[in-house]
This record gives sequence, C-alpha cells and structure tokens, in this order.
Amino acid sequence: MLIASPQDFDRARALRAEIERLDHHYYVLDAPLVPDAEYDRLFRELQALEARHPELATPDSPTQRVGGKVLPAFAPVRHAVPMLSIRTETDTEASGAFNFDARVRRELKLAEGDPPVEYAAELKFDGLAISLRYEHGVLVQAATRGDGETGEDVTGNVRTVGQVPLRLFGSAPPVLEVRGEIYMKRADFERFNQRALAAGEKTLVNPRNGAAGSIRQLDSKVAASRPLSFFAYGLGEVSGWELPTTHSGVLDALAAFGFPVCAERAVLQGAPALADFHAAIAAKRAALPFDIDGVVYKVNALALQQQLGFVTREPRWAVAHKYPAEEALTTLLDIEVQVGRTGAITPVARLAPVFVGGVTVTNATLHNQDEIDRKDVRIGDTVIVRRAGDVIPEVVGPVLDRRIGEPPRFDLLARFPVCPVCGSHVVRGEDEAVARCTGGLFCPAQRKQALLHFASRRAMDIEGLGDKLVDQLVDAAIVRTPADLYKMGLLGMSMLAGLERMGEKSAQNLLAAIERSRNTTLARFVYALGIRNVGEATAKDLARHFGSLDRLLAADEAALTQVPDVGPIVARSIVAFFAEAHNLQVIGDLRAAGVHWTEGEAQATVAGCLAGKVFVLTGTLPTLSRDEAKAMIEAEGGKVSGSVSKKTDYVLAGSEAGSKLDKAQALGVPVLDEEGFREMLIKGVAP
Ligand code: IVH
Repeated sequence: MLIASPQDFDRARALRAEIERLDHHYYVLDAPLVPDAEYDRLFRELQALEARHPELATPDSPTQRVGGKVLPAFAPVRHAVPMLSIRTETDTEASGAFNFDARVRRELKLAEGDPPVEYAAELKFDGLAISLRYEHGVLVQAATRGDGETGEDVTGNVRTVGQVPLRLFGSAPPVLEVRGEIYMKRADFERFNQRALAAGEKTLVNPRNGAAGSIRQLDSKVAASRPLSFFAYGLGEVSGWELPTTHSGVLDALAAFGFPVCAERAVLQGAPALADFHAAIAAKRAALPFDIDGVVYKVNALALQQQLGFVTREPRWAVAHKYPAEEALTTLLDIEVQVGRTGAITPVARLAPVFVGGVTVTNATLHNQDEIDRKDVRIGDTVIVRRAGDVIPEVVGPVLDRRIGEPPRFDLLARFPVCPVCGSHVVRGEDEAVARCTGGLFCPAQRKQALLHFASRRAMDIEGLGDKLVDQLVDAAIVRTPADLYKMGLLGMSMLAGLERMGEKSAQNLLAAIERSRNTTLARFVYALGIRNVGEATAKDLARHFGSLDRLLAADEAALTQVPDVGPIVARSIVAFFAEAHNLQVIGDLRAAGVHWTEGEAQATVAGCLAGKVFVLTGTLPTLSRDEAKAMIEAEGGKVSGSVSKKTDYVLAGSEAGSKLDKAQALGVPVLDEEGFREMLIKGVAP
C-alpha cells in the first residue's frame, strides 16, 4: 500500500472542509450551494482517497455519515453533567405560564413591584434527547439520555444525521457538550412510509418513534437510511469556553458553531408574554413541519438559573407548557361504515371515548379495507388514535403487545354485504380501494348527489334545480328519487311555494323545466342515471350501440365490452348498477311518470365521415362555439376527449390555444383550424 504524501493529507483536509461547508448549507441552512452532482464528485474523491490511504480517514470525516458497523449492543456512557428532565405544566391553559412565573418570582424573592423576569421561550420538540460531545471541535461521542446519569453510546448512528455537525466552525473549546433533540420532519416521515409501503416493508408508527427507533438501531446503515433532523437547545459539560450570559446567547453561539437552532424562539418579559407565545405557537402548530407537544420557558439569565437550582431531577428555572396530546390510546369497540354522497363506503372506528387533540373522540376514520389490512387493526384492540389540528381523527394502528388472543381480521364486504343506509348491494372493483353502495338512484345517502347529477345540463337539463333547491326538496321530504320530480304534479306548486326563497314565478319555471325534460334522448337518460364510470361520451356510445334501454338493460359484460371504449371496469359498473333492484324500481317509476325518448335500432358501428376519430378541442374558434363543434364531430361519428394523448387523432385549435396545442405538436398529432375542420367535414378524412 502506498504511503499518503503530504499533498494527499492536504487534499483530504481541503475536501473535508469543503464538504462540511456544503453540508452545513444543505442540511442546516436549507440553502444548497452547489448542484448535487458537484457534491457527489467531491464526496467520491474523498472516499477514494481515504480508501487508498486509510490513515487519512478521521472520525469527523463526512464519509463516516453513511454508516456501516453493526454493533452487538450499545456501550454505556456516563454523563459528566446529568441530562435533566423538565417539569411539565399540565395546565394547558394560559394559567400554566402564570403559575410558572409566580413560582420563579417567589424563589427569586421578587416583590410585586419588581420588574418582570426575562425568559427564553422555545418549542418542545417531540423526538429523542441526545447529548453530543465535541473535543477541540470534533464530534467524539453521541449519547442518549438513558436514566439521565447513564445513556447509551449511539455515535455511529448520530453521525449519519446530516444536520449534526461532525466538526464545529470557528474556534471551538476543548470540551463542548451540546444537547438537543433528534426528530423526524412530518414530510420525511410520510415520504419514508410511502416508500416502505411500496417496497412492502414495515412502516413507522409516527415521527417520534421513527426518530427514536432509528437512533437505537444496532446497524448504522439502517439509521443512515432514515431521514432525521436535529435541533440544539442546551449545553452539558463545557470547559475552556467563556459562556454567554444568557440562554438565548448560548443558542446564538451554537448556531454560529454550525448547529441547527429552531428559529421559532423568543426572548420575553413576564408571564403575559409567555402566555401569548403559548397561544401563538398553538395556532401555528399544525402548520409546523414537525411535531411538538408544547413550548418550553427558560429563565434567560444563566446567573439566575444557577441561583434557582434544582429540585430532584428538574431545574426550577425551566418548565414545559404542554398542548393537548394529539395521540392517545383507547379501545376499538367496533367497526361500522359511513356512506358518502357518491356511495363510497368508509369504515369508521367506534372507540371507547378518549380525550385527544383537545376534544373527546368516539369515532375515527379507518379510510378503507386496504388501510385496515395494512395496519392490521382488529376489533377489541388497543389502538393509537390521532387528532392533529382540525383534521378528522384517525386510527394510527394497534398496540400489538396489548392484543388479547387472536381476534379475527375485519372483512368489510363480509360484514356489510349491503348498504346500511338503503340495503342495496355493496361492491368493490378489482383495482379499487373503496367499496361502494350500488343503489345510486335510491340510496338516501346519495340522494342529493344523484338528483343534482340527474338535473344537470348535460343530463336531463332541468334548469333551476341547483344544489340549494335540491337540499331543500330532499330535507323537506318532497323529493326522494328522481322519479318524484315528475310526480309533484299540481300539488307541486303549493309544496314548492312553501319553500324558503321560492317565489311563485320560480316555482312555475321549475315545474315547466321539469315538464320539458320529460322528453329527452336515450343518451341523456343513460348519462343522467349516474352510473359509476359512465360519462357523457360513454352514455352516447351505449345509446347508439344498443338503441333501446331494454337492450342495454339486458346486456351482459361481454355484450357491453363490444361497445367502443367500454372496457371491463366500465362494463362491470353498468352490470352492477342494473343488477340492483332498487335502481330498476326508480327507472320503472321514471318511465311510468312519463319520461320518454325515441328508441332506435341497435347500431354496431357508427356511420359518418369521422367515425371512430378522437378530437381534442382547444382555444377559441372564429365562428363555432365549443358545443357546436362538438355536436358536429359527434354527428359524424367522431368523439371529443378532454386531453391530448397518443390516441388523439386530431386537435382542433383556435386562438389562444394553450398546453394542449403544445402537447399535440410534441406527440405529432395533426392540428386543424376551423377552416381545415370544415373542409374535412365536406371531403371526409382519408382512411
Ligand atoms: S431543555 C434542563 N428544551 O423534553 C432542561 N428540552 O424532559 C433540559 N425537549 O426529552 C431539557 N424540546 O429532549 C429542553 N426546547 C427544549 C426541548 C426539550 C424538547 C425534551 C428533551 C427531554 C424532555 C425534557
């Protein structure tokens, strides 16, 4: 092996200094200086140099961040200065701040007229406490808190945390122990779990467990793969350094050494200012990028801290003023379901009442069957419930070591084969996470949505029947299904006139619009039914293909997939919809109430010079409106789609055409203007 030359030493030193500088900007200041590729180049050069000459590798080299060694166990570390805990103010109201200030003033023997005490206020991070020991500016040891006297040596793992400096900036004292919190940002936590899920690996329960679990990994490669962050908030043993006179001054000095110090901090005078800080942070809590469980107040002057001293293991000069916990444990009593406006069936946990996030929670969402399976929650389990900010409470997961016996897994479709609201069948598409009620026309939970869709312009086109009116009609029990609209008759006039904000004139107009809609087309009627996955274009295809409603009703999956653009998913939705007796009942009622259309022959293929061609419209045409152009295309057997893809045959573009035109050009799709389009209608398209 070659002995390293003095130049090699210099180069390694220069590379380390530069990489540390780049790390600080990237991890701590969140403002990268160079592109990742440039960083990688320097990093690889240093790695190669150290591999060739191991005598060049130092414990503070940035190459040590990647982890490697697997330890049999963590060695104990005795803290030179014990790691104290902090008194918690359980009173989450403003009085928590006043009580603390009153105690401090009493201990300091201050009279009522004396000036307010100055405090440093900061956040209480929800992670894992850590003590970092630097000797002559180099990180030599990282230890957990343990029992406060003795912790565990987790140096290898902590080195992998990018935000922890391996070497300090400026002239560092011979010994400097820095204390702070290792934590995981919420976005990092989510991203980590998404990846883990995709890879079929175990997910983390919450950011705090993520942080604590990573640092206590015996394999530092595992820790290196976890996205961890760090905030400094205090000191341990220090020698050879003249301390600043205040805690806020200490934090400023730590930031200058290169530590991340949370910007969300303040120097405040007296109790009312502390209470305001507590309230202001509470308002921001949900928007912070990481979890906190309170704020911390510390007497700012270090001399006063000394004077105040400790009781047992807690300093008298500091307090944690908490917020209501966002997570709590309770028992999952049962799983029920809720039916949404579109028929989505959502499993809901019934919980033993528990106080979490400031309110008593008895229900929490379980999202869907896949989530229940993934979390493996079972009825009877002790579960973690989370309510953060105003977000709907959710079940995070079970506490497995409290599970009694082996309760059966929950199977939504087995437990709820029919909709609890209307009794229609519940189905779940093969590739879908969500189970749905098939009684779209009939189900009270879906009534309002179904009526709005039924009346919409491209469906039955009942002008004036908007969401406010639908709310009123359904709430007053005047209308339950679309068929009821046509049954209102003369009585309807008096019923409508009784509704709020409904004059006689608008009641007449509405009844007239309902009357007019009786005479419709098969395509509009099919679209109006609100069958899942059946949009306007598919409804038209179905109407054209089958020609009559009865032929459509009789079609099985195989017959349906004969229709252009109807695949197995759409076919299954249609079959499920018409298999539901409740829906057939409403369709029968509609026909009995006089809703009608002209029926034609079944047409296997559409004649017309644009048969089968797919158009996309964009921009403003000189003379044609969008609807007119669309009607012309469809009259010739063509179709209009909303977005440009490889399947698009033509883009019809007017002025101010935007990204669709760009995309057409990128994909090489022919672009027509209105003139070209009219010409095409006359001459037809070349096959
Ligand atoms: S100071 C002498 N400041 O809270 C006081 N602790 O029981 C020593 N914590 O697990 C702690 N944020 O890790 C302090 N801004 C903060 C803190 C904080 C979170 C944690 C700490 C420990 C617990 C203290």
